[in-house]
Amino acid sequence: MKSVATYAEKLIRGRHATRAFRPEPVPEDTLRRIFSLAGTAPSNSNAQPWQVEVASGAVRQRLAGALVRAHAERRTSVDFPYSEGMYTQVHQTRRAAFGAELYGALGIGPDDHTARAAYDSESLRFYGAPHVAFLFVHGDGETRLAADVGAYMQTLLLAMAAYGVDSCPQGLLSFYADTVRGELGVEGGKLLVGISFGYADEAAPVNRVKAGRAPLESTTTFHH
Ligand SMILES: Cc1cc2nc3c(=O)[nH]c(=O)nc-3n(C[C@H](O)[C@H](O)[C@H](O)COP(=O)(O)O)c2cc1C
Repeated sequence: MKSVATYAEKLIRGRHATRAFRPEPVPEDTLRRIFSLAGTAPSNSNAQPWQVEVASGAVRQRLAGALVRAHAERRTSVDFPYSEGMYTQVHQTRRAAFGAELYGALGIGPDDHTARAAYDSESLRFYGAPHVAFLFVHGDGETRLAADVGAYMQTLLLAMAAYGVDSCPQGLLSFYADTVRGELGVEGGKLLVGISFGYADEAAPVNRVKAGRAPLESTTTFHH
C-alpha cells in the first residue's frame, strides 16, 4: 500500500499552471466538493478572511468580454499595488528565465512586444477555461489577511488537482478589480487573484512548459 506521503508528493508535484483549456465545464457536484475542501485552509485565528466568487457559463462569457474591453481601453484598477521594484535581483533572474521559457513555448520572441501584448489580452479570456474563481480579501485587506488568502489559494489549487481539475492563478486578472466587481455585483473586499480552471488541452504546447524551482539550499536554512 502506498503511503499518504507518496500520494501527497504526487499531488503537490503534479500541480502546475495550465494555460490552454478545453471548453467542457466541471460538473456542479465536483465544483462544490473542491470549494468545500479548499475552505479547510488554515488562517490566523481561523478568521477565514476570504470571499470567493466563481463565474461560469454566460456570466463568465460576459466577464471575459468586459475584461478584454477594459484592457483595450487601459482601464486598470488594482487593490494590491504592484511594482517591478518589489522583486530582488535574484527574483528578477528567476522571472526572466521563466518568461523566456513560457514565451519560447508560445513561439513569441523576447522583443516581440506586440505579440506579448496580444497574448496578455487573450489571457483575459481565462485561457479558454470554462470557470474562473476570484479570491477577495475581506477586512482591511492588509498583508496578514492577504497571506491567509494565499494559503486558501494553494489549498484550492491542490483540491482542484485532487479532483483532476487543472488551473492557472492569474495575477493579471487582479489589475481589473473594478471590472470584476462591476460584472459580478461584488461590493467590498480587495481582489488578490483570479484562478482560471477546467480541463487542460493536452495538445497545446504551452501546457508542456515546466517551471523549475530554486534548489532547497538557496531558499531554506535548517538551524540546529
Ligand atoms: C499569485 C500568482 C499570480 C500568477 N499570475 C499569473 C498570470 O497572470 N499569468 C500566468 O500565466 N500565470 C500566472 N501565475 C502562474 C505562475 O507563473 C506559476 O505558478 C509559476 O511560474 C510556477 O509554475 P507552476 O505553477 O506551473 O509550478 C501566477 C501564480 C501565482 C501564484
